Amino acid sequence: MAKYEIIGGTPLSGTVTIGGAKNAAVAILPAALLVPGKCRIENVPDISDVHTLLDILASMGAKFEWVEQSILEIDCSDVTCTEPDPTLVRKMRASYYLMGALLSRYGKAHVALPGGCNFASRPIDQHIKGFLCLGADVEETEEYVDISAGPEGLQGARISLDVVSVGATVNIMLAATLMQGQTIIENAAKEPHIVDLANFLNTMGARISGAGTDTIKIRGVEKLKGGNYAIIPDQIEAGTYMAAAAVTGGNVLVKNVIPKHMECITTRLREMGCKIVEFDDAIRVQRTAPLRRITVKTMPYPGFPTDMQAQICVCMALANGVSRLTESVYETRFFGYCSELENMGAKIKINEKTASVTGVPLLRGTTVHAKDLRAGAALIIAGLAAQGTTVVKNIHYVERGYEHIIDKLTAIGANIRRIDD
Ligand code: UD1
Repeated sequence: MAKYEIIGGTPLSGTVTIGGAKNAAVAILPAALLVPGKCRIENVPDISDVHTLLDILASMGAKFEWVEQSILEIDCSDVTCTEPDPTLVRKMRASYYLMGALLSRYGKAHVALPGGCNFASRPIDQHIKGFLCLGADVEETEEYVDISAGPEGLQGARISLDVVSVGATVNIMLAATLMQGQTIIENAAKEPHIVDLANFLNTMGARISGAGTDTIKIRGVEKLKGGNYAIIPDQIEAGTYMAAAAVTGGNVLVKNVIPKHMECITTRLREMGCKIVEFDDAIRVQRTAPLRRITVKTMPYPGFPTDMQAQICVCMALANGVSRLTESVYETRFFGYCSELENMGAKIKINEKTASVTGVPLLRGTTVHAKDLRAGAALIIAGLAAQGTTVVKNIHYVERGYEHIIDKLTAIGANIRRIDD
């Protein structure tokens, strides 16, 4: 199993360019299933989750080609399969978007339950509720979800989500796009990648309004058509490099970002004493003084993202005083990395949803194990700040969501290498 070896202690300095948003890409590629024509998609991140999705779509009959680095042409005209390969589907979480996409285009889907990062129990009851409201029959076994049009057919509906769920919002948007009538999603997720999916679908001919607010309206259309689209930059990849700059006392220009999407993160880093300068599509993060303690609570967008919880925890671990970090989306997420950080010398006390993090003057390098994608990213930035050598194992998690991470970090002065065992 490959691992990363990091020799810590160098302040990061230079420019890093952020790729396309993972969570937008993994929704937009299944959305291409709705289009009987060619979609040219730019800013597609070179990450293993994207490659897995492309393998799934190709095995279903889609044709795709990388026309340039990060520019993909995909044509799902010839797809007829509604039962994607379960082995591939189980490799990642967002494969559950195939359910909504196949239901929309073919009126049925037989999809294995997804795999991916299991940092918490991740139910899909709200996705199923959405499909049922749209008139589908849904049968769930321990391994599969089988969806088909119910006796009265599929029809747009008003759906009020009981929890704000990104996945359910995406799946219902996909399902309703080619359905008769109007669908209204209340209590919808507002994340930037929800807006990006709506923009992609609208570019291809869908009629979706309200994305980015808590009420999304989808007026069903008969057919979509091919077109061109560029995916937004990855908020979490950008946030991870910003945290890395902060924690190493560096000075990094993070390019290809939408500063508005980063506000929930820039605000916290400013509170910690970092100097942040925003440009049109870039953010500079500089730290010259010790980090100060802060209080953070994760929330759905526009709140502080749960996917940045672990990375901000590393900043807290090296800040002056006791910081508090409350998780309100995935309560068990701390267990993916806190014990590993403690092995590096961090002082963290977890009490239900809140971690109290007492800053220490330094972390020490050791061997640590990534247990999920963002936990792995946090251990890397801890290693970059730590004294000595850190070995991060289970890096396949990290490579699910961070493109060219070794090259990008090396270019800003990190001493990190990938070792294939
Ligand atoms: C997405 C992101 C993930 C991020 C998460 C929260 C993708 C591919 N993944 O995951 O990176 O960490 O949003 O921002 O975009 N819930 C239910 N029932 C459901 C669905 C969700 O109870 O049917 C609960 C979850 O347990 C969780 C909360 O709702 O507590 C939010 O989950 P959700 O937004 O659905 O997360 P994902 O879409 O899986």
